[in-house]
This record gives sequence, structure tokens and C-alpha cells, in this order.
Amino acid sequence: MATVTFEKAQRWYPGADKPAVPGISLEIGDGEFMVLVGPSGCGKSTTLRMLAGLEEVNQGKIYIGDRDITDMPPKDRDIAMVFQNYALYPHMSVADNMGFALKMAKVPVEERKKRVQEAARILQLEDYLERKPKALSGGQRQRVAMGRAIVRQPQVFCMDEPLSNLDAKMRVATRTDIAKLQADLGVTTVYVTHDQVEAMTMGDRVAVMNLGELMQVDTPLGLYDKPKNLFVAGFIGSPQMNLLEAKAADGQAKIGGYLVPVDPAASKKMQGNITVGVRPESWRIVSANEGGLPINVTVVEELGADSFVYGTCDVEGTPSNVIVRVSARDSVHKGDVIYVTTDPKDVHVFDTETGSRLSD
Ligand SMILES: Nc1ncnc2c1ncn2[C@@H]1O[C@H](COP(=O)(O)OP(=O)(O)OP(=O)(O)O)[C@@H](O)[C@H]1O
Ligand SMILES: [Mg+2]
Repeated sequence: MATVTFEKAQRWYPGADKPAVPGISLEIGDGEFMVLVGPSGCGKSTTLRMLAGLEEVNQGKIYIGDRDITDMPPKDRDIAMVFQNYALYPHMSVADNMGFALKMAKVPVEERKKRVQEAARILQLEDYLERKPKALSGGQRQRVAMGRAIVRQPQVFCMDEPLSNLDAKMRVATRTDIAKLQADLGVTTVYVTHDQVEAMTMGDRVAVMNLGELMQVDTPLGLYDKPKNLFVAGFIGSPQMNLLEAKAADGQAKIGGYLVPVDPAASKKMQGNITVGVRPESWRIVSANEGGLPINVTVVEELGADSFVYGTCDVEGTPSNVIVRVSARDSVHKGDVIYVTTDPKDVHVFDTETGSRLSD
């Protein structure tokens, strides 16, 4: 069993005035692909490095299965790490790079060859085994770095932004490869990225972090459909969710003259200042007399199948940005005023003060 359990694991860097990660608790299932995502400096790498044994854990515990690895040296943890810079040995062939850790571990030469061959087959590197890293593309080098991790047959893979040195197209292709490979191998994986699209497309579950704390841990769709707080609501989704200030009174929510349709659960809880979240695809254009939210269109981005309409609506005298996804057949133009509304099930209501979700 290779579950991974963080129990209030803390990392406080020497000399810092507060911990980078105050105390993270997270349970990762056997064979699960868990993505840690969040803005720069939120503590993703620190969390991963505590698991890999590259950072000291100042408080709390970390387990792999039933093994308490909190104070174990990295080499005894049965973890393989893949970094952003592949750090291949330039003077060694691809095969030797992949087999190096096994050689150090005194794995017999025949076994070593077998595992390197097998990894090369999985990663489609068989034709490149005798080449030196400098004669490979970035994507191929990244696959060699993956191969180096695979041959060790570890209980856990730790990956820290392994795709960030690749160009956009290569990144998309390789992210599918890694996700498929992980599913085939079934090795528990903790994967760090700051890119929410990468997180959503690769993870079985995604842990969203901010300022060293976990904001929410859920499946990609769970995060998208029911963000627990304003941070996750704004972070997950591209273009991002529209977040508009509204006033609540008597179970109703209003943005100026627009009555926001809200679900009964939110209606009961909301009062005073609330923030209403609506995804760009959840707005619906209505005619002027149907009581929609008026939007002054500033830009229309035509993407072929559909278009993104960027505009502003008036919130208590201040213009707020709004994004609406419309079908390419709805002809909306810069300078137009359009009216939009939505359904209660598509409205996410948050308490502005605490940021917590009030909707079901
Ligand atoms: N060796 C270190 N010594 C002191 N502070 C550090 C050290 N490494 C990281 N930090 C601090 O700890 C916090 C978390 O850093 P970490 O590298 O975990 O963030 P991250 O989420 O991986 O960010 P990024 O997306 O930029 O890689 C940051 O405030 C950072 O400045
Ligand atoms: Mg990092």
C-alpha cells in the first residue's frame, strides 16, 4: 500500500518570521494522481520536498502507507522525484542516465538493462538510448527524466513542475503522456504545478493551496462546480468566474437593479455584502425588458465555435468587469449593450467578508 498521509506537517524555514507551510493535512490514495496547485510562493514545492525528504519537517508527521517517514533519509523513502530542470548527466547516454540510480543501488546489470528497456519502451525512447542528452529535444529530455524515475519502481512519484520548460504545444502533448503513464503504472503521484489547466486535466484530485494553507481538495469537476471559497472560485476556471459584489436583503440578492436568481440554501444564509459568482458560460442573453443585468460590451473575442464577450456592468456606481461566453451565432459587437441572466443552480454565492460559500 502506498498511500501518502500528511498530518499537520509544518515547514518553517530558518530565519523566516512565519512558517512557509504552517501545518498541512492531506490524504492521498494508493495509486492516486494528486495535483498541488496554487500561486507562486504558496508552498507547493515546500510540501512536496517535505515528502521527498529534501526539506526538514518541523512539526507533524508524514506517512507512506503505515511507514512514518518524517525523519527518514530521502534514499530510504522509496520515492522518485522529477524536477523542472531535468538535470541529466551530459556525458552519459540516455540509457546510462536512466540506469544510473540502479547502478548506484547495485542492481545487477541484467536487471538494470531489462528495466531501462522497459521504461524506454513505455516512453518511446527506444531509438534514442545511445544518444547524449544534448542531441534530444526538450520533450525527449523530459521523457528521459521520467524514465529515470520509472526504472526505480518507487512507491511514490514526486513531480515539481516537470513541464514548465517545454513550449506550449509540447506541454499539452506531454501532459497527456504523463497522465496516461501514471494511470498505466498505478504509482501514487504528487504533482506540483501553478497552472490550473494542467491541474484540472491531469489530477484525479486537486489540492488548491494559498499562503501555505489548503483551500480545497476535490476532483477537478468538484472544484469547478462547488468552489468552497472565493479563492478557489477565482483560481479555477479560464476565463475566470465572474465575481460581482451584491447586496442581500430579505433573502434576495441585488446588483443595482438586477435581481440575482439564487438557490434557497444561499437565500437563507446571505445577508449584507455578498459576492455572486457566475461562470462565463452560465450567462444567458435576454431581451431588454426581461430584467437582466445590463452589460456594456468593450471587446468580443471570436473563437470560432463560440465567442467571449468582455464588458462592464455597473455595481453601485463602479464599473465591474464581466465575461460572457456566447455562441458565435449570437451577433454581439463592441459598443452594444446586452442583458444577461442565469439560473439559481449556476449562481455561486459567497460571504464577501469571510469568502465562504453560502450556496449548496
Ligand atoms: N530555502 C528557503 N529558505 C527560506 N524561505 C524559503 C525557502 N524556500 C522557499 N521559501 C519560501 O517559502 C514560501 C513557499 O515557497 P515554495 O517554493 O514552496 O512555493 P511554491 O508554491 O513552490 O512557488 P512557485 O510556484 O513559485 O514554485 C515562499 O514564501 C518562499 O519564499
Ligand atoms: Mg515551486
